Amino acid sequence: MPTVMVTGANRGIGYEHVAQYAQKKWKVIACARQPEKAIDLLQLQDKYGANFIIEELEVTNHKQVDDLSQKHSNTAIDILINNAGTGGPEGMPGAMDYQKIDNMNYQIWRDILEVNLLAPFKVATSFHKQISISDKKTLIMMSSDLGSVSQNTFGGLYSYRASKSGLNIVAKGMSNEWKDIIVVALAPGWCRTYLGGAEAEIDPMDSVEDQQKMFESLTESDSGKFLDRFGNEVPW
Ligand SMILES: NC(=O)c1ccc[n+]([C@@H]2O[C@H](COP(=O)([O-])OP(=O)(O)OC[C@H]3O[C@@H](n4cnc5c(N)ncnc54)[C@H](OP(=O)(O)O)[C@@H]3O)[C@@H](O)[C@H]2O)c1
Repeated sequence: MPTVMVTGANRGIGYEHVAQYAQKKWKVIACARQPEKAIDLLQLQDKYGANFIIEELEVTNHKQVDDLSQKHSNTAIDILINNAGTGGPEGMPGAMDYQKIDNMNYQIWRDILEVNLLAPFKVATSFHKQISISDKKTLIMMSSDLGSVSQNTFGGLYSYRASKSGLNIVAKGMSNEWKDIIVVALAPGWCRTYLGGAEAEIDPMDSVEDQQKMFESLTESDSGKFLDRFGNEVPW
């Protein structure tokens, strides 16, 4: 069976990915920065045994990323989902308060960039080889509609938007340089998670179901695209 690796797998969209792939009998590498506290992941491990591996990964810790890559140097990773992300300490709508044109918390902005932009670059470059030796050869960069420049019609959320726009151009660049894998920037839709908030439109379970269906239809020609969960192109 194929192998998937997911960062930030202990809750939200990342958790849904590992839960649904485990149910499909995939081999799962579920990364969390505090595995001992990741109760939901531990329950999945009890259920699925050796096919469900939990790894400690704080994505901003580049040495930890490299060590994990070394540990899995011969593991073919069919789909790597660079999912770990943040909108800062608050979920929506509170997260809007510290990234406004007239109220910017620069330290939170730096933290968001570390997690949402620098870390996925580091994880992707560290694990490129393991993706390239797999069958599906797919790298998913978890972006957001909020990273779309052309869809930014009302401003706000400067720190988060900038991090995801940056991620988009990183994904595009990687698709140009890495012809041996498929690199996609993905907008999962506005989901009810800590980050998305209680008012969000979509149950993360449904979004992930759509995402995983869409991943199965990806081909080489999709590399370098910014897609929504149904596979439709999102305007840059
Ligand atoms: N929800 C939405 O509406 C929405 C929309 C568009 C895009 N997205 C993107 O989807 C991804 C998942 O978001 P979500 O909605 O599922 O958010 P979430 O429920 O808040 O989960 C975020 C996940 O990222 C992990 N994470 C944060 N910082 C990390 C770090 N430094 N190292 C390792 N893991 C870290 C968290 O781990 P801890 O539990 O340890 O903090 C958690 O597992 C993010 O990239 C987000 O930007 C979400």
